[in-house]
This record gives sequence, structure tokens and C-alpha cells, in this order.
Amino acid sequence: MTAMRRALLLVVLCLWGLSACRREAGGFSAQPADRLTPVARRETPSPETFPAKPTPVYPTPKFPTCQPDPAPALDLSVYSYRPIRPISSREGGATSLRQLAELRRFYVGVSTAPHFLDNREYAGLLAAQFNMLAAENAMKWEVVHPEPVRYDFSQGDALVAFARANGMAVYGHALAWDLQQPGWLTGGEYSREEWIQILCRHIKTVVGHYRGHIYAWDVVNEAFQNNGALRNTLWLRKIGPEYIAMAFQWAREADPQALLIYNEFFAEGLNQKSQAVYSLVQGMLRQGIPVDGVGLQMHVWLWGPPTRQELTANMRRLAELGLVVHITEMDVRTQYAKDSPAEELAVQAEIYRQAFSACLETPNCNVFVAWGLTDRYSWIPEYTGQPDAPLLFDRQGKPKPAFDALLDLLSRSP
Ligand code: XIL
Repeated sequence: MTAMRRALLLVVLCLWGLSACRREAGGFSAQPADRLTPVARRETPSPETFPAKPTPVYPTPKFPTCQPDPAPALDLSVYSYRPIRPISSREGGATSLRQLAELRRFYVGVSTAPHFLDNREYAGLLAAQFNMLAAENAMKWEVVHPEPVRYDFSQGDALVAFARANGMAVYGHALAWDLQQPGWLTGGEYSREEWIQILCRHIKTVVGHYRGHIYAWDVVNEAFQNNGALRNTLWLRKIGPEYIAMAFQWAREADPQALLIYNEFFAEGLNQKSQAVYSLVQGMLRQGIPVDGVGLQMHVWLWGPPTRQELTANMRRLAELGLVVHITEMDVRTQYAKDSPAEELAVQAEIYRQAFSACLETPNCNVFVAWGLTDRYSWIPEYTGQPDAPLLFDRQGKPKPAFDALLDLLSRSP
């Protein structure tokens, strides 16, 4: 950078906010990335100074765009989920989580799949306690776009139909990700321009299909490694780092209403990855890229979850950029714990409580989603090969102490 351009940038940054100005001027008093505490350790790193909300200072890049592919229209008529009457607070003294959440305009949700919804007990619990559902797999590439010119929205449409019947919001997941991709994509040989068109058409087709029915989309999922470097995904290799900004641009073109989210795991506390996420979204905001928020997945263990202080610090600095912050996939693994089952459940409840209350106390955090309804339907045992009990309800659908903790927090006056 020439001395002249640097001086100009400094003036802009100083006008924009003192802390950013200090850093650009060489102050860089924040912890160097390589000294930040890894996620699994319990000490709280000192929080970054919180920069003020940035205004765009770089020109918005001009990306190529595309027309959506021909694809089936949204079809809610084939699914006849009857509304399930939520449990009233006057019936047997029972109060539902969603009723309390709705008093605060808050969304509590779980991820789900359409084949569970035919189970009446499951569906009843889901609709009674939650006002949001997340598409656990139903909107992923391998499901919705199994062949280059074929889309299958039947599973996603079923989730939307259930949500509509029961007054629930839908969290769309995930548009640009490196897993659960169909073979034609992973084995495909195309030019960079063709890859750009493939990703663009996918996003515009899928987001356009659900336009008006999705509260928030995970536009880009898990783009970073834990050390903060970009993950070597298909999209990075084929398009380059700008695939991230492009994906947000195309998603906005297809649905101006849905919140557009960058979603990540192990980026909940203060560490190299959350630093990278922060820099990414801050940079996108400065360029006028339409990112609305950050999803913190929160797949954690009984031991070593991010401390409350670093969680709050991370959420607050994102919120102070003007972004929303969501907890998007929470579960708390119990495997390898050495305590008694009752103690394990108490520790688990406390971890849920801390995460939920950190969200409640962050002005821009109004979504809390667990990754599955009951322990019977968690992805963790299959993924790890070990039995586990990471969710809010046990295998029989009975509320666990973790659920009671959330209920308790929402019962307190805001
Ligand atoms: C998981 C699903 O829960 C499983 O059913 C599937 O087999 C694999 O993917 N981060 C994400 C989610 O963003 O999409 C993953 O979901 C869990 C980790």
C-alpha cells in the first residue's frame, strides 16, 4: 500500500471508530492469533476491543450472476399435516418453551427430518415446544440437487408444510458446504466459469423455490479450519475465496427477506477460528456484501465448552457489527464422561443454560436451535460410533434437566 493510500485509509478508519483506527495505525494490541486459547481449554482469553459498526469503505465487487434452473415449484398441498394444538399454559400447569419464547419474540427450534413427522408423539412434542425447525438434511445438495438438471424438493417442502401448519419458522441449511454433495458435483470437471454458474444456479434455484418461507439460510457453512485458514473445500479449489461473497450475493438476489447467515463450528468462543469468522463478516460488511449474521453451531462436550465470558464477548462483538447472532446446532456430548448419570445431566444442563442465557443477553440473538429433538434422533452416536445423550429430551421424549434450564431462563422476566 502506498503511503498516500494508507493515510487515506487511516482517516476513514479513524472516522469510523477509534479501535479500528488504532489497530490499523500499528497498535494491534489485540492478542495475536496464534496465542488465542483453543476452544477446548477453559481459560478466558481477553476479549477484543469491540469495533463500532462499519460503513462500506471498499467498492462492492461485481460478481457474475445467473438465471435459476428449471425446477419444480413449491408444493405444500401433498402434505396434510394437521395443526397440532400447542400445550396451553392453563392445562395441568404445563407451560411450553415456545409460548414463553413467543412472549419475547424469540425462536426456539430443533433440527428435524420429514420422516419423523409421521410419528404423532414426535410431531406433538416438536410443535408443542418449538416455534422453529431446521432442515437437518432435507435441503442439502445431495438431497435437493441429486443430478445436474434434477431437483427434488419433496423433503424440504414437507418440512415447510409442517412448519406452516404449526406456526413455526424454518431455518434453511446449507447452500455452500463441502459435505453431503452429490457425486456429479464432487467428481465434476468444469472450468472456473462453469463452477461459478453451477453454484449460482443452485443457490438461486433453491433459495428461489423457498422464497418467503425461510426465516434464515445458512448460506456458507464451515468454510474455515480451526486455525483460521480457509478450509480446502470444493468451492475454494474451483472458484477461489470469493465463492463466499458470491454465495451471499446470489442468495440475496433470490430472496430479499431471508436472513443470510455464515454458519460455523468451534467458533463460539474466542479463538483463531472465531477471529477468522469475525474478520470475514466484517470485511463483507465493508464491501456491502449482504451478510446478515453468524450462526454459532455449538456442538460441544461436557468438558471444555467455551466459557461464558468468551461466548458473550464473541457474540457481542458480532452483534456490534450490526449482525444477528444465532445458536444454530447445539448439542452437548456426554460420551466418555466419568461422573454419575445424574451429575452428567446437571453439567449438561448448565452448559445449555450458559449458552442460552448468553444468547438472551445479546441484543441481536433471538434464535436458539438444538441439533435434534430427542436423544433417540441425535446424529452424534452414528457420527462418533459411541452412545450419547446430547439433546434436550431423553430417548423416551421426557424433558431432561437441560430442557428445564431453558424453560427456567425463559420463565424469568425479560
Ligand atoms: C449432520 C446431520 O445431523 C446428519 O444426519 C448427517 O448424516 C450429517 O450431517 N454440522 C452441520 C450439519 O452443519 O449439517 C451436520 O448435520 C452436523 C455438523
